[in-house]
This record gives sequence, structure tokens and C-alpha cells, in this order.
Amino acid sequence: MGTPDDVYVRRQSALMDSFDDQSIAIFPTNSSMTRSRDVHFPFRASSDMLYLTGCEQEECTLVLSKVGGVVSSTLFVQPNDTLQEIWTGRRPGIEGSRSLPVDVVDSNENLLDFLNKIKDSINSIAYVMGERKVLDKWVHDAVYTETRARQKSGVGPKRITDPRPYLSELRLRKDSHELESMQKAADIAVKAHIEAMEKATPDMNECEFQGIIEGAFLSHGSHWSYPSIVAGGDNATILHYHANDAVLKDGDLLLIDAGCEVDGYASDVTRTFPVSGHFTEPQREIYQAVLDAQRAAIAACKVGEQVTAPNDAARRVLSEHLIRLDVIDESMDEPTGPDGVGLWFMHGIGHWLGLDVHDVGIYSIDSSSRVFEPGMVITIEPGLYFASWRTDVDVPERYAGIGVRIEDDILITNDGPVNLTEACPVEIDDIEALMNGD
Ligand code: GLY
Ligand code: MN
Ligand code: MN
Repeated sequence: MGTPDDVYVRRQSALMDSFDDQSIAIFPTNSSMTRSRDVHFPFRASSDMLYLTGCEQEECTLVLSKVGGVVSSTLFVQPNDTLQEIWTGRRPGIEGSRSLPVDVVDSNENLLDFLNKIKDSINSIAYVMGERKVLDKWVHDAVYTETRARQKSGVGPKRITDPRPYLSELRLRKDSHELESMQKAADIAVKAHIEAMEKATPDMNECEFQGIIEGAFLSHGSHWSYPSIVAGGDNATILHYHANDAVLKDGDLLLIDAGCEVDGYASDVTRTFPVSGHFTEPQREIYQAVLDAQRAAIAACKVGEQVTAPNDAARRVLSEHLIRLDVIDESMDEPTGPDGVGLWFMHGIGHWLGLDVHDVGIYSIDSSSRVFEPGMVITIEPGLYFASWRTDVDVPERYAGIGVRIEDDILITNDGPVNLTEACPVEIDDIEALMNGD
């Protein structure tokens, strides 16, 4: 990872600025999870650990403390263990972790001793209860069980604080190092989507496209940031489709929602294209409506604009198209609402993007929309979905079986929105030209 140590140290200090003096913050990384007997899910370190230290190891815990105005950091890691390492792979251990951006590295075995030693010098603990049992118990005992002892001694922690709101605010605004990783993740995703378009022919199975996409991620040293959605025809009307096992037919549209991860940072890209290489007239009408809505939404991603603005802009454009296409009625009181556009575009316009695909950060402050600031990254992903199998509404016959979503990753800057995934073809003519080798 290309992030310099002092950047991590600044992030640690910025977080501790949120807390009073005599505080500690404890961040355990996530544990390895079992998939089935003796088989584990691939491990990924928690996003908070990656943000604060870049440490990708399993079973470690970061303790930040601020006492007398001085912030210090101790990282507890798995010690070397030859027998375990023969089975599960080499561990950096304590010596191998000393290059990480923390003041002290110690063994997990010493974590509780360390916490017990500093307990009397702190007033509050920032920790997310439920993250790790042994820490839950220590925090609970330190604050609640030991109240009697504190009554006599007058020292020890009195408060538990949730660190997430503070850390989320920091993570929401990306620095140049984060943006470099995000641009790399965006570039790899773009290459993968282009390869899928280039190789598309009718009669391919959705899983073959999944293979192309995820093969491209792997061959560029990356891997998916969320399970790929590869949905042909009517399957594209299922928002979180994941079977990815149907054979496509000539004339089908294929929706691929797939992104990858670089240094833990995600890209999240959706393109929809005709497997034959040519959009039909009804497909063009719907596709162009979604594309125009996406453009309007991206244009609204401006510093100082409310974060609800892209959604409003997209719904306005979609309603204009759907009225013209006779899908909704212009006499409606609120064509952009749930009885109009909402029947066919039933999810949000996008979400923050970063170390998590649906990244941290609140969208409203005191019930009003927050405004965009430089460094925020948001996906913009309008769609229209005409599921032929829906029975709760009359699905227009002309569009039955069409599902279109277009998704790009947008960085907010003082100079306007920057589309990190702009290199992925999105215009009808450009997609057709690419697919037909023109
Ligand atoms: N791929 C998940 C999403 O678009 O939110
Ligand atoms: Mn998304
Ligand atoms: Mn997506």
C-alpha cells in the first residue's frame, strides 16, 4: 500500500481529537469466519483497521490512547507459531509487524494486561460493544462492574463512547492516497467491463461473463469488492440477483454490476448492454432514459449541493421520459414519487464509496440533507426495471423483461464532479461500436 506512515499517524490523531483527554479507543479487527468444516471465508481485515494502520492481519487489536494530550498507539498481533503457520500460512508476528505505523507492537497475549495497566489513568473508552467477546467483557467490567472500586479510588473509566460516528466522518472525505487506490480499483473495473462487452455473444451463460469479469480482476491483482451481479433479460429486474447461471438469448440485455478492490478500496460499476451488440428500439428508449437521468444526477454532485440533489435530478429526468413513453401519466400529482417513477426505479440513487462498498458516513444531519464536500465519493446508479413477472402493477408490454442500471463512481471536487469510471463506454453508439469492433 502506498500510504506513508505519517498519514496513518495523522488519521489516528485526528480520531483521538474527537475524544477528551484520558481516553482510549479500541479497534479489534474482524476474526476469520468458517464457511464449512475446516474451510474459511477469505479473510479481509476490517475497514477501520485498514484506515488507521493499513494492517491486513487476522486477529489483531489496535489501542489508541490520549493521556496528557499525547496520542499513542499499540497494535496487538498474533505472535509467530510454527505449527499454526504450517497450516494457515506465515504470519508477520511481532518482529514482522514493527514496520506498521504504530508506536508499539505487542503480542495478543499481552492485550488484557496492557488494558488493565492503563485502566486507572483513563476516563472513557471508545469501543463498539459486540465486536469481540473478550473485549466486551473487559470494557463492561471496567466501566460497570468496577463502579464500587471507583467510588473509593476515584479513578478509572466512566464512559463508553461509540467511535464510529467520528471515524466515519474522517473516512467519508478521501485523501489523495485513498483516491489513488480508488482510481486503480475504478480502472481495473473499467477494463473488466470492457472485456465483457468485447467478448459478448448470444447463447453465453451469465456465469461465463462472471468468469470474464472476475478473471480480469484477478489478472490485475485485484478481486471482487462485492459478489458480481450478472443478470440477463428479466433477471436484470432483480436488484440483488446472484444466481448468475442463466443462458442468454439473442435480443437480451445483460446487466453486469461488478467492482473490485485495491488496497481495500472498492469500485462499484454497472453497465447494461445487448448481448447481440445492438439495442432494440424499446431497449434504446429505456436505456436513454436511464442514461439521461444519470447525467443529470452526476451534474448535481457539486460542492455545497445537498446530497439529495442527484436523486431529485434523476427522478425528474426519468419522469419526463416515462411520461413521453406513456409509462406514467402526466396528470399525476407527483410523477417522481412512489406511484410514478418509484414503481420502476425502486432503489436509491447511490451511496458513499470507499473502504466499504456501501461506505460509512451519514447522509443527513439533524434530519436535513448534508451537503457535498470535496473528497467525498458517491456512486450514481439510476435504473429502470420492468419485471415481466410482476403482478402488483400493469407492466407495459413494450418494456416487459427490460432491466437497465448504469452506475459510475463520482468524486466530489471544487472543480465539479469527477467520474472515476468515465472510461467505461456508456453511450449507446459507443457500446455498439465497441461490441461490433467498429
Ligand atoms: N453493487 C452494489 C450496489 O450497487 O450498491
Ligand atoms: Mn452501488
Ligand atoms: Mn453496484
